[in-house]
Amino acid sequence: MRERLRIADMLRAQKRHISFHTPGHKHAGADITELDYSDCLLSPDGVLKEAQEDIARILGAERSFLLTDGSTSGVFSMLWCLKAAGMRSVAAPAFSHPCVWNACNIFGLRMVPVVQETRFGIPLQPVLDQIKSALGQADALLLTSPDYYGNLPDLAAVSALCKAENKPFLIDGAHGGHLHFVPVLYAGSYADLWVDGVHKSLPALTQGAVVSAKSETWGGRLQAAVKLFRTSSPSYPIMASVEYAVKYPRNERVEAAADLFKTQYGCVGNTDWTKLLVPFGKNCRKAQLSLEAHGVYPEFNDGNYLMFYLSPRTREKDLKKLGKLLKKLPRDGVAEDAPAGVIPMYREER
Ligand SMILES: Cc1ncc(COP(=O)(O)O)c(C=O)c1O
Repeated sequence: MRERLRIADMLRAQKRHISFHTPGHKHAGADITELDYSDCLLSPDGVLKEAQEDIARILGAERSFLLTDGSTSGVFSMLWCLKAAGMRSVAAPAFSHPCVWNACNIFGLRMVPVVQETRFGIPLQPVLDQIKSALGQADALLLTSPDYYGNLPDLAAVSALCKAENKPFLIDGAHGGHLHFVPVLYAGSYADLWVDGVHKSLPALTQGAVVSAKSETWGGRLQAAVKLFRTSSPSYPIMASVEYAVKYPRNERVEAAADLFKTQYGCVGNTDWTKLLVPFGKNCRKAQLSLEAHGVYPEFNDGNYLMFYLSPRTREKDLKKLGKLLKKLPRDGVAEDAPAGVIPMYREER
C-alpha cells in the first residue's frame, strides 16, 4: 500500500485563510510559506520533520534533508561537511558535474582528479586502481553514481576501499533517486553522504532533491551544512513533490520495457534502465531535429549520442513511438577513440 503523503495531506487540509504573508500572489493555495501549521524547514518539528523521517527510513539514512534548490545544494552541503570535519582535499573524477568543481573552488578544497578513460566518446566510470591512486592523495572521495550515461562504479569495492583507508565516501546521485528500490545499485547502501536528485529520475518538480547521511556524526554536520546552502523560502509544492517522488512505487513494467528497448533499438549497454543512449555520431543534430519535429525531445545531444531519460512515469506507448521514429533515422558510428562528447549542461570553464 502506498505510504501517506504528509506534506500534500497538510496542504489539502488547509483552511481557506486571508494571506497577510508571503508569497505576494496572495493565493493561499499550495504555494504557501512557513506558517504555524506548515512547519519550518530550518528547524522542523511538525509535518516537515515527519516527512524527512519517512524519507530517511525509505532511503536507509540516519538523516535525510529535503532540498528545493536542486542536487547542487546537496553537493555543496556534502562538501561543506568535509570542511567541517577538518578535511582539505577530495578525490573526484574530472567529469564530475560543475557544481562539484564550484563547491571545491569556493571552499578551498583541493580537488584531486580521478583519472577516467573515454571509449566510444563516453567518459567511463573510474576503475578501482585509478580511484585508489587518487584517494592516496586526498582526504575523501566523491563519485557520481549513476552518471549521465547510466554507468555505475564498482560501489561495493570502492566503499570497502574507503572503509579500509578510513576516508569518507560521498556520492553525487543526482541521476540515481530511483535506485533505492535496488539496494545493490543504490548510493545509500555504500556512501557516508549522498544526494538523490529526485526531480530527474523520479516524479518530483524541478529542483526537488534529498541529501542524506548514514551516521549521526555526518548527519549532525549535514544539518549544519544544509542551513548554509538552502533557500530560506522553501517551496511547498517542491517539498510535497519530493516526498511524493520518494514514496512513488516501483514500476517494473516500464523497467522491463526499457531493457527490451535497449536491445531492440541498438542502445549503448549500460546499467541504469532510465537512460537510453542511442549512437548517431555525425547525424546527431539531424536526428534530434527530426525527432523534435515529431514532438519528441531527448534529454541531451552530446555530439555523439542522443540520450532519452525515463522515469517510472514514462508511458510504454511513448517508448513505442520513440522506437518507431528511431528506426527511420540514419545512424553513424562513434569511433572507439572519439573524444568525450559535450553534455550541454556540463559546459563550463574548469
Ligand atoms: C551529476 C550531476 N550532479 C549534480 C547536478 C546538479 O543537479 P541540479 O540541477 O538538480 O542542481 C547535475 C545536473 O545535471 C548532474 O548531472
